[in-house]
Amino acid sequence: MTRTIFCNGKFVPESEAVVSVLDRGFLFADAVYEVTSVLEGKLIDFNRHMARLRRSLAEIELTFPVSDEQLLDIHRELLKRNEVRQGLVYLQVSRGVAERDFVMSNVEPTLVVFTQKKDLLGNSKNASGYRIVTVPDLRWGRRDIKTVQLLYPSMAKMIAVKAGADDAWLVEDGFVTEGSSNNAYIVEQSGDIVTRNLSNSILAGITRQAVLEYAKEAGIKIVERPFTVAEAKNAAEAFATAASLFVVPVVEIDGDPIGNGKPGPVAQRLRDLYLEECRKRAF
Ligand code: PDD
Repeated sequence: MTRTIFCNGKFVPESEAVVSVLDRGFLFADAVYEVTSVLEGKLIDFNRHMARLRRSLAEIELTFPVSDEQLLDIHRELLKRNEVRQGLVYLQVSRGVAERDFVMSNVEPTLVVFTQKKDLLGNSKNASGYRIVTVPDLRWGRRDIKTVQLLYPSMAKMIAVKAGADDAWLVEDGFVTEGSSNNAYIVEQSGDIVTRNLSNSILAGITRQAVLEYAKEAGIKIVERPFTVAEAKNAAEAFATAASLFVVPVVEIDGDPIGNGKPGPVAQRLRDLYLEECRKRAF
């Protein structure tokens, strides 16, 4: 089955979904994106993803005329046409096609939306846990904006893959910022959850927002502050969150086991809690 992609205002077969070489997304990474997960054919945390998209667009001063309702229709139509029951929807907005110039001109933004079928729930790492390596965080200073400038995260991921690990946690001034494409957490011996506070240093994960909300409702204490790699290695548990992962346990950092080296009960509980709650709210 040929995948249908939304590109330049139309639903087209993948082979016809093309963007100009002069698109500023291609030339300058002048674009922002969102990734929304799909379970049982329904969108997870869609409104929150669109709220973050609006914030990213505002931060780079990109005027984008398409409403959330129109974006919802496009998402739903793609899920239907591509028969996606489980997977991801990627939405990318670039500033558009303009003569190459560092000065940004007001052109028509490019909107591309595409789906990926994926067995998110069947990810074998849910059971085995992620093995992490730490790498210096060499990204730019506005990680709160979800831009398509993903070269360093890809390089960090490749360092992990080459080392036989699953992902990289990025470290700045001795503290973990976040994962290559996910937020990072530890569970202290007391049972409290520690995750880095929001700032320009990390992306405000939508899964993070939801997981912290549900954890607080369940009476689990959350401390939002930076933590060191040493703290993580001595923690009872560690885990990561992202739309593509939900909650995934971390069992090893730089070759050292976390806790007993097996996925921990707090990560498992939060995963169950998140999946239960997000499904109730999905549409
Ligand atoms: N990545 N931090 C970074 C740097 C990310 O790229 C992501 C998401 C997250 C988690 O955000 P959320 O919970 O909203 O997915 C944190 C997506 C999944 C990606 O680029 O594929």
